[in-house]
Amino acid sequence: MSLSDKPRLLVAIPMFAEVLAALAEHFEVDAAGEHPIEDPAELARRAQGCSALLVAGMPRIDAALLDACPTVRAVCSMAVGYNNIDVPACTARGVLVSNAPDVLTETTADFGFALMMATARRIAESEHFLRAGQWTQWRYDLFAGSDVHGATLGILGMGRIGQAIARRGHLGFGMPVIYHNRSRLPAEAEAPIGARWVSKEDLLREADHLVLVVPYSASSHHAIGASELAQMKPTATLTNIARGGVVDDAALAQALRDKRIAAAGLDVFEGEPAVHPDLLTVPNVVLTPHIASASLPTRRAMADLAQRNLLAVFGIGADAGRPPTALNPEVLKPAA
Ligand code: DGY
Repeated sequence: MSLSDKPRLLVAIPMFAEVLAALAEHFEVDAAGEHPIEDPAELARRAQGCSALLVAGMPRIDAALLDACPTVRAVCSMAVGYNNIDVPACTARGVLVSNAPDVLTETTADFGFALMMATARRIAESEHFLRAGQWTQWRYDLFAGSDVHGATLGILGMGRIGQAIARRGHLGFGMPVIYHNRSRLPAEAEAPIGARWVSKEDLLREADHLVLVVPYSASSHHAIGASELAQMKPTATLTNIARGGVVDDAALAQALRDKRIAAAGLDVFEGEPAVHPDLLTVPNVVLTPHIASASLPTRRAMADLAQRNLLAVFGIGADAGRPPTALNPEVLKPAA
């Protein structure tokens, strides 16, 4: 039972103190604190009586949670990816869902490009070697990797982030850019980023550096597995900043061990934060903990956008009644 007239909000993830303070002006806030609330039973308990949930790429918001917490009217996420949220289940129950696109595009593209470069030029592997005191002499082939400039950049998934990576490769590094996406970009979008649509088979065969930015769904599950890895060049690198599950991590670890491809850079993992143990034992992979959008200004912009959506659902502020990045705005439409 709420002690105030304010609607109750569960912030299920660690959050900027300033954002929590601003939210507390309009909501009775229960904040996760230092650790996200991921356990479904704890989430259902804490969400009891809440009108809204503020989340990110986790925790899982599914029909069982919604049925256990029927007062929830809105689920606002500060992530762009929303595969943790069952949007049709929310829509069926009249629950508004929003995500946080656009504000993280350039930051995430920076990171994708950096991870691809670190992978190609063996930066993490060579740093570990140096720290371990193993650098004792010059060699012509010491951590010799592959070039990025002029190499063929392959992109699987060509949404906003894919296009921002293509732009970096084309304009900054003189890379021919090929991509595969369900829908082809219009010619006027392809031309300035030098991008050419190819089949998935050609993408795998021709890319020197393949970057994955495709959203996770049943159809992109294990889009890169053993048979796709077998089609890539043995000198190629693979970078995944999309979602765990787009790559079959066990197959990738085997391909890296067998030098089927040269190296991989992974920011996302199947079952993260757990990492497939075989990936931890192969040297030719750069591993980062899902931080592609993690610059402080961008994380703040993501949180602010989630807050705008939240306030809008409850009729507060300049966007009142019109959450700017709703995924199912139809739930707000008045009945005819
Ligand atoms: C997103 O927003 O989906 C990114 O993966 C960062 O969490």
